[in-house]
Formats: sequence, structure tokens, C-alpha cells
Amino acid sequence: MKVDVLLGLQWGDEGKGKIVDVLTPNYDLITRFQGGPNAGHTLEFNNIKHVLHTIPSGIFRDDKLNVIGNGVVIDPVIFKKEIDDLKKIDIDISKNLYISKKAHLILPSHRVLDAANEAAKGKAKIGSTLKGIGPTYTDKISRYGLRVGDINNDFDNKYNTLLERHKQILDKQFSWEYDITEYEKEWLEGIKLLSTFNLIDSENFINESMKAGKSVLAEGAQGTLLDIDFGSYPFVTSSNTTSAGACTGLGIAPNKIGEVFGIFKAYCTRVGAGPFPTELFDETGELLAQKGHEFGATTGRARRCGWLDLVALKYAIMIDGVTQLIMMKSDVMDEFDTIKICTAYKLNGEIIDYVPYEMTEDIEPVYTEFPGWKEDMTKVSSEEQFSENFKNYISFIEKETETKITVVSVGPDRAQTIVRK
Ligand code: GDP
Ligand code: IMO
Ligand code: MG
Repeated sequence: MKVDVLLGLQWGDEGKGKIVDVLTPNYDLITRFQGGPNAGHTLEFNNIKHVLHTIPSGIFRDDKLNVIGNGVVIDPVIFKKEIDDLKKIDIDISKNLYISKKAHLILPSHRVLDAANEAAKGKAKIGSTLKGIGPTYTDKISRYGLRVGDINNDFDNKYNTLLERHKQILDKQFSWEYDITEYEKEWLEGIKLLSTFNLIDSENFINESMKAGKSVLAEGAQGTLLDIDFGSYPFVTSSNTTSAGACTGLGIAPNKIGEVFGIFKAYCTRVGAGPFPTELFDETGELLAQKGHEFGATTGRARRCGWLDLVALKYAIMIDGVTQLIMMKSDVMDEFDTIKICTAYKLNGEIIDYVPYEMTEDIEPVYTEFPGWKEDMTKVSSEEQFSENFKNYISFIEKETETKITVVSVGPDRAQTIVRK
């Protein structure tokens, strides 16, 4: 069996949580491979809305196993909150959630470092979620990190050594004032809870499961344009959000990757700082934000909105090796008379059809216009009901990207999903 990967092709918040939940019945194992509580994945069913940060979105189907892979970074406080919230609705996941011993821990002091780093950047700040993601991955790469497997292995000593190092940096480099006493208490409770879970060498577990014929879905976090290598650096996150990240974040060989589901909104959003060529500053952007409820699931921040950017989408499809496209939130544009798609960029008077090294503010999008579909997509339940204008919009994207759109989402609920034949 191979691992299918589902990941975002834009700047995150494409609707990954919803679709992983929809696809979960087809798989035995649902795995997360990178990111951490900077992610907010929303699922809706039976009129209830859930937001997950660290736990894979397969958790609501009780016959499935969920795995947090080695590439993920975990904040035990946020992890505990997620577990407590699930307990409130009678969901006990202690038996069907496994956690890699090689996943790194976000310390309370990593969060403080994140804030200090951002403040030091001033106007050039990234707009981080301030969950400690960057500093935790920095420690991982510079080989100072604390891992889940350390919980049962000289933990106090290792924790204090790393904390001491952070204190030095915060005092000497930043002269930063902070108090982590309360957070640290909660954090240690979270560590206790973590230690009650199945802590495993998940790379062995996943590969052995595959050999035994089990099917695996890998759930990405963030989006391709936030990738540390291929995103709009430095306005990116600190992990590989692309399909290659599934290999390193789970311990899966490249030839074990099967389908790559690339998920995108019918328009674009971005939260935090950084270039966004098709961003709209007018009432159309406002309408997308309002109708799409474009507020961050993790930070509540308003998301910036704009037209679909096909130049960036094609780049993401290339990097990820996308085999199927999933288009989300088409219902948000139901009332528009005209809809635009960016098909090229104009840079220094020249028309280009690729993502340049630096996505500067000088990039001007070149648009192709489409008549709006003007129908209530939330009422559409099969592709036979798609209007001509909607069909034109999706077939244009398919032609340009040379990739099939196999799923269309027409609302936030699990049921509002159309699988095309
Ligand atoms: P993720 O981070 O990729 O899982 O996405 P988020 O959960 O951060 O953001 C997606 C938002 O869009 C959530 O509030 C979803 O409930 C909502 N959503 C998902 N699909 C659709 C859709 O097809 N239509 C509408 N209107 N909302 C959707
Ligand atoms: P999901 O999985 C949208 C953005 C932040 C910031 C940049 C760096 O829900 O799609 P970080 O906290 O990683 O240091 O922030 O990345 N960002 C996201 N934007 N969705 C996310 O996750 C994001 N995770 C991080 O806003 O611009
Ligand atoms: Mg999100």
C-alpha cells in the first residue's frame, strides 16, 4: 500500500481539516507530518464545529488510528486542551492516537523566543502565530531540541538545560522580560498527559502497517506557499509543507507516495505578512472575507483575501506532484457578477508566467475574467447540477493546470462535498 498525501496549495486554511475528515473512511491510518499548533483545522458535522491544532483530522471516526509523526512539533498545553475539548463531547482518543517519540516539544520558552524574535524584526515581522514554531524547529535543526521520547529519559535535566539556554538568549540578546511560571505549570501537566499515550517509533509503525495492507493518509498543515524552501521566504513557516515533507515527517520513502491531493480555495487568502499578488483592498475583498468567514481558526486574525492565483497554483502543483485537485469554498463567490483568475504576472514591464525569486510588491497580476455562476452552490448536491458558468470556471483551471478537479466543496459541512465522476 502507498501513502496518499493531502496538502494545501496556497497560504494555508484551504479546508484541509474538512476534506481529511471526508476522506477518512477510505483509510486505516491518518497521520500528521509537519507543523504544530500554528495550524487550525476546522471540521463541521451534525451542526457542530471542531478546530484541531495538533491532532489529525481523522479523530472523529472511532475505528481509525491517528498518528502524530516525527516532523510535527507539539505544545503539551495546547495538546491537553484539544484532548479536554474532545472529552467534553465524549470522545476518548487515548486508544486511537499514537505519537512519534521523535516529534519535538515546544517549550514555554520557545513561545517567548518567538515573541522576542518577532518584536526584534519590527516592521519586517513575519506575522507568526507566536506558538513557538520557528524557535522549536530552530532548536531541532541546531540539535538542541527536546523530543517526546525524552519524557521517559532524563527529562528534567534535559528540560532545564534547554530552558537555561533560552534564558541566556532572552536576557543577553533580547533583554526580554517574561514570566512563564503559570504556562510552565500547565505545560508539565500536558507532559504528564502526553506520557499516557502510545509513544512510538512511528516510522516503523507506519511502514509495517503499510506492509500489512493498511492504507495511510498524510494530512499537511499550512500550505505550499508557506514552505520554508519554496514559499515566499522569509514570510513562511519553519517546516516543509510540501509533499516531500510527508517523507521526512513520517519516515516514508518517496516511492511509497501514492495520490497527492492538492487542495485550494476558489480564491486566495493569506494571514500574516508577506507578498500576495492578487490581494484585493476593495469591497470585493471585503465580500470574500465576510461571506467566507475569513478569520484565522488559530489566532482569530482577519485573513487577507484576493482572486485565485493560477501562476502560484501551478508552481505548487509542480513542487508537490499533485495528482488530483480539490476546490473549496466555491459557494463564497455565488453572488459575484464577474470572477477573475490571475494567469500571469507583469514585472518591470514584462509578462511572466512563473513565480519569480522574489515575490515583490511590484508584481502586477494579469487577469482573465469569467462571468459569475450566480447560483446558490450550497444547495448543489451533484455535479449534474453545476451551471455552465461554474463548469467553465473549473474546466479553465483544469486545462491550465493539466490536473483534474475531483472534489468540489460547496459549504463547511462534511455533507457539502461533491465527488466528481
Ligand atoms: P485548514 O487549516 O486548511 O483546515 O482550513 P481552516 O479550517 O483553517 O479554514 C477553512 C474554513 O473554511 C473553515 O472555517 C471551514 O469550516 C470552512 N470551509 C471549508 N470548506 C468550505 C466550503 O466549501 N465553503 C465554505 N463556505 N466554507 C468552507
Ligand atoms: P493551517 O494548517 C494559515 C502563517 C502565519 C505566518 C506564517 C508563520 O491552519 O492551514 P508561524 O506561526 O508558523 O511562525 O507563522 O505562517 N501560518 C498559517 N497561515 N494557516 C496556517 O495553518 C498557518 N500556520 C502558519 O500566519 O504568516
Ligand atoms: Mg487553518
